[in-house]
Amino acid sequence: MANGPSETHELPSYGDEVFSFTYPAQTERLDSLGDVCDPATTADLARWDLSPGAHCLEIGAGTGSLALWLADRCPDGSVTATDTDLRFLSGLDHPALRVLQHDVRTQSFPPESFDLVVARSVLCHLPERAALPARMASWLKPGGRLYIEDPSFFPAASSPDPVVRRLGEAVTTTLARALGSDVAAWARSFPAPLNASGLVGIGMRIHCPTLTATNTAGRAWALSIADLLPTIEREGALTRDEGVAALEHLARPGFIDTAHAMIAMWGVRPPNPHTEVRHTG
Ligand SMILES: C[S@@+](CC[C@H](N)C(=O)[O-])C[C@H]1O[C@@H](n2cnc3c(N)ncnc32)[C@H](O)[C@@H]1O
Repeated sequence: MANGPSETHELPSYGDEVFSFTYPAQTERLDSLGDVCDPATTADLARWDLSPGAHCLEIGAGTGSLALWLADRCPDGSVTATDTDLRFLSGLDHPALRVLQHDVRTQSFPPESFDLVVARSVLCHLPERAALPARMASWLKPGGRLYIEDPSFFPAASSPDPVVRRLGEAVTTTLARALGSDVAAWARSFPAPLNASGLVGIGMRIHCPTLTATNTAGRAWALSIADLLPTIEREGALTRDEGVAALEHLARPGFIDTAHAMIAMWGVRPPNPHTEVRHTG
């Protein structure tokens, strides 16, 4: 599923055509995804005793819910929230928050800048993903933590519902062809991508949101499919009629299933000798 650079350098970037920020429901889609993911992500991050003076970096912060949560936790430190497109971040106001236009593929930070580096639902969409954990780890201070979370649609493949199986396959192949994303094997391989990063204390966590016709996870999924529908059709994964029928299926009263897992992996940059460490796997 992961494409090599020669196959992908002609592909558009996230937001150019696919998941365009001009999609009318893009804020609602990103906010819903944040609402579904934030409880599990923040529960992980809260376990690690982030100091109020910590300096954090969130890559691809979207609408900024996680960055704001971090800013509340680190009022005496800082949170740098980056994205290639700042339209949903530029209005956020928090004394500890700094918003920065930055492309994680091509732009860097000085070594040893941060106590925590976070990226959620970003690397899966970047064809250069395999090289990024080690690059991001180089921005950590000794004792600092890297935390990467991404979706995998492997639960859809085993769904008893043929519409969910077909949609999961259509989303996975369309995103791979149109963007160079990997929403199947990449996150399912966690935490192996951290093996060459030089980090220690490596761990992982998995969470499969329940989708219904009326809950936030179901709404986020339906908005994502609706956003992708023209691309799904263009890539030949479903016809328009099949796509519309699938969306109607998701909106039926009583619909309930799971289609994707959110998988997180983390590791800690080895601390300097004589530094007290407060981490567990
Ligand atoms: C699916 S959204 C996830 C938003 C947020 N991290 C969350 O989980 O709620 C992916 C975000 O990554 C940003 N992004 C895509 N490519 C990027 C890149 N090369 N560098 C930095 N951010 C990028 C997008 O603009 C978008 O805001």
